[in-house]
Amino acid sequence: MCGIVAAAARREVSEILLEGLRRLEYRGYDSAGMALIDNDRHLLLHKKKGKVSELERAQALDPYHGCTGIAHTRWATHGEPSGANSHPHISGQRVALVHNGIIENHSALRAELQGAGYDFASATDSEVVAHLLHRELEAGRSLLEAMRAAVARLEGAYAIAAVDTQHPEEVVGAREGSPLVVGVGIGENFLASDQLALRQVTDRFIYLEEGDLVLISPSTIQILDVDGRPAERSKTRIEAAVESAELGDFDHYMIKEIYEQPRALAATLLCEPDHSISDTAFGERAAAILDRVQTVQIVACGTSYHAGMVARYWLEELAGMPCEVEVASEFRYRKRVQHEGTLLVMISQSGETADTLAALRNRSEGEFIGSLVIANVDNSSLVRESDLVFLTRAGPEIGVASTKAFTTQLVALLMLTIVLGRRRGMTAERERALVGALQSLPDHVQETLMMDPAIEELSGAFIPKRHALFLGRGIHYPIAMEGALKLKEISYIHAEAYPAGELKHGPLALVDEDMPVVAVAPSDDLLEKLKSNLEEVRSRGGQLFVFADIQSGFANEPGITVLPMPHCPEVIKPIIYTVALQLLSYHVALQKGTDVDKPRNLAKSVTVE
Ligand code: G6P
Repeated sequence: MCGIVAAAARREVSEILLEGLRRLEYRGYDSAGMALIDNDRHLLLHKKKGKVSELERAQALDPYHGCTGIAHTRWATHGEPSGANSHPHISGQRVALVHNGIIENHSALRAELQGAGYDFASATDSEVVAHLLHRELEAGRSLLEAMRAAVARLEGAYAIAAVDTQHPEEVVGAREGSPLVVGVGIGENFLASDQLALRQVTDRFIYLEEGDLVLISPSTIQILDVDGRPAERSKTRIEAAVESAELGDFDHYMIKEIYEQPRALAATLLCEPDHSISDTAFGERAAAILDRVQTVQIVACGTSYHAGMVARYWLEELAGMPCEVEVASEFRYRKRVQHEGTLLVMISQSGETADTLAALRNRSEGEFIGSLVIANVDNSSLVRESDLVFLTRAGPEIGVASTKAFTTQLVALLMLTIVLGRRRGMTAERERALVGALQSLPDHVQETLMMDPAIEELSGAFIPKRHALFLGRGIHYPIAMEGALKLKEISYIHAEAYPAGELKHGPLALVDEDMPVVAVAPSDDLLEKLKSNLEEVRSRGGQLFVFADIQSGFANEPGITVLPMPHCPEVIKPIIYTVALQLLSYHVALQKGTDVDKPRNLAKSVTVE
């Protein structure tokens, strides 16, 4: 949340910074700003409320140039989205600073700095850091030492980048609780919240560790660890992504990413020539930990949490493995009692979600026999700090509403079900059948994508609606939840998901001709029960939209519109039905004219609590 990009170069960097912000805009888009130091050591500042395109416009109208600079795209926490609250924040006409995270003790620091004569121009927590840094610089410290002294006063989470007109070739950075990466160039160096921002200028990166401080100039990179000692951090060369972060021929990232799913799913499935899943898919040390697992605790947020809910059905039904699933923001603050032999499994597309990370970091000694993260971003904090790692191979996901990350997470979770199930008596034949189903998945998703025109046609019925209800039973209840989440995230239609059997215990009271009801209704053991629940809706005048395969036996009738789904192995139905619901929310949002890729108030990577 919030994106930072910074450069120290021997060439003009404004376009590099703007391109970096465009690539980071998924992290927040309430406002954007950029500060450059020009050849005469002047600080030049553009700040704009709204998207990065507003900042680009300001730069086009009044171009600023410089070889050293910092830039920021904001997701507002403290202080409304406005020009004044945009970053960079300035102190004493010499310091400019951008911040990602939350400074918890900002009120006390603000009072102290005001007492010392500092005027505040914004309502943000971040501005205190600019003034703290300024005060330390005025005391005669070097840029790095001044930053060290400034962050020593902070409580909370931060990634920071700052420039000072009296050190015109340098950018100083710090990280604690929010990601910051160094991009290593030739005769130029960079900082960013995510390596994605810098892929246009380098493929070599240094991932900073918690508490690190960094000073970059065009030719040097100096890192201090949390104790202020010079630190060596390894460089990582990042291979070119299979899927690019460019939009190509698509109108939106979301639809591009929906259509990338067949390839992403195929790339994520790692299976052996004999159609088995190797333990090593989860890391070299996996077997020793997996052998001891008695029960699984899944922790995640948002869409990733829904993946965890699906996995619980698989783990308990197919692997006989007890499993609990909880949203990270609750899990992290709860007094917990774990069963012996519990494996902590975190699911996170970004690998940076603050609450999920806190669940890992705050675990007590001996609480779990090990930790596994399923993530889409290599070198993210969760990946670096977990015992075991499974990387989904979805490629960069830019649309804020998660699509291909979710379905690839499900592939990873079914693979986990298989390796744990093997330890609980799953036969080789059963394993081969499950792997076969996973191998057929890309084709079935492709078939589902061919329903796009039919789903587009149906989506019109949702445009005038203010509410929608999604129903499912069993493993398709979390799929209904994911469908409802997608719809509310991007079309702003209030959508709720219910396990269909619960309908009569409350939500049925809401059903009338204005309430579209979406049913996830594949032919499975619970189909007959679901049909009775849907009758309850119909008899109250509710308008039903039923996603069902031919075997389900639904037909179009007054009050029921049926979306015929491809026939496929039962175990992959949750994934196939998800794809259809993704298309539904996309088309509804498109017709409503909302910003599909950047829905209001949301951000892709939530690195604050
Ligand atoms: C944000 C995103 C969601 C995502 C959630 C968890 O809210 O908008 O799409 O599901 O964070 O993110 P993670 O990266 O941990 O999967």
